[in-house]
Amino acid sequence: MQLELNSELSNEWIQKSKSAKAELEGRNGAGKEFLGWLDLPEKESTRVQDYLHIAARLQQLDAVVMVGIGGSYLGFKCLYEAIHSPFKNSTGPQILFAGHSLDGQYHKDLLDYLADRDFGVVVISKSGTTTEPAIAFRLLWSLLQNKHGGKEAAQRVCAITDGNRGTLRQSADSLGFASAVIPDDVGGRFSVLSPVGLIPAAIAGLDVYSLLQGALEMSDLLKRPGDDNPAVLYSAYRSGLYASGKKIEIMVYYQAAFQYLAEWWKQLFGESEGKNGKGIFPASAGFTTDLHSLGQWIQESERTIFQTILDVEQSESPVIEQQENDGDGLNYLAGRSMHDVNRVALQATQKAHNAGGVPSLRIVIPEVDEFNVGRLFYFFEYACGISAYCLGVNPFDQPGVEAYKNTMFQMLGKPGHS
Ligand code: PA5
Repeated sequence: MQLELNSELSNEWIQKSKSAKAELEGRNGAGKEFLGWLDLPEKESTRVQDYLHIAARLQQLDAVVMVGIGGSYLGFKCLYEAIHSPFKNSTGPQILFAGHSLDGQYHKDLLDYLADRDFGVVVISKSGTTTEPAIAFRLLWSLLQNKHGGKEAAQRVCAITDGNRGTLRQSADSLGFASAVIPDDVGGRFSVLSPVGLIPAAIAGLDVYSLLQGALEMSDLLKRPGDDNPAVLYSAYRSGLYASGKKIEIMVYYQAAFQYLAEWWKQLFGESEGKNGKGIFPASAGFTTDLHSLGQWIQESERTIFQTILDVEQSESPVIEQQENDGDGLNYLAGRSMHDVNRVALQATQKAHNAGGVPSLRIVIPEVDEFNVGRLFYFFEYACGISAYCLGVNPFDQPGVEAYKNTMFQMLGKPGHS
């Protein structure tokens, strides 16, 4: 993985980022009780066999529904969308999602779809009490019980939750679900390399070892001191720009596969940094598609934005053919792959946007596979920790998320919320 900067980096922010890195590594900063994610690549490698064992039973089914929201949803969703091709037949179960919204129509259609299919459920919630996944699981569990009876239905469920607390843990233990524990010291949006992401990945037939290997390699790299540490550079780049008035960071991707990487990244940085009246607003755009919608805004609107661009060196791609009748005028591209044209579009757009006053940084990875996504997960989590410390906020809490919940519970009449 390489970082290519198209804007000035101030030494002041490099030094601040290095101090923040020392704080993270020293495990003595704000939220220090939630730093378990730092060690996940190493620790979880020893548990993969258990996860594969849990996965094997669910892999026999027609479909498996992953139930969760926020950090209990986006990590695996991102990984799955990055690796899995919608056009290739996979041998395992169909992977579906639920509990990531309160959309009744979506859940009704899902239940109808599952009615005559042999399906299983992976329900993921650290607190074990989050409303969206709890409602979705109640609906799915009820359908499973009606179809198979309680004992058989329980064989089709895996719960990933806290080791002791929460109603989901109680249900898992009393009803005999397979289960796995989310470590106490790992918060939701930092949990993709725990069973939260790894068990769904194993069920989907993704290479879990390679994912962890990529994360481990990145963790070794990021531990190194020096001004050229990529997490220090990324933090210095974005923190410096924020201090100079650039309030919005746009994550730009050129591969459809990265749509949910951007969604995962938005949650990671948005929930970690956006507090105490501070924080970069994380946005995303899929180019070249969004060049035909947001491109104008980016080129010429208020100069409060900067871009972080994901660039992929290698990708399987069709090649544009020479045609005798050059009716569409594309013979000038003959012999070039679509991926090559996409990368030229990237370079050209970056140049144009830079000229229009939008600083940018390019993160280049060799290809999209489990290993490289593992690297990106760890890189962004680590850089997020450093950036939040630079900003002076605790990256590992999310007090603001409670505000809507309390109001909603009052309006719904939840006991204890009058
Ligand atoms: O990052 C976080 O902590 C949140 O986004 C949570 O993951 C999200 O609210 C879901 O929580 P839970 O796993 O407790 O259901």
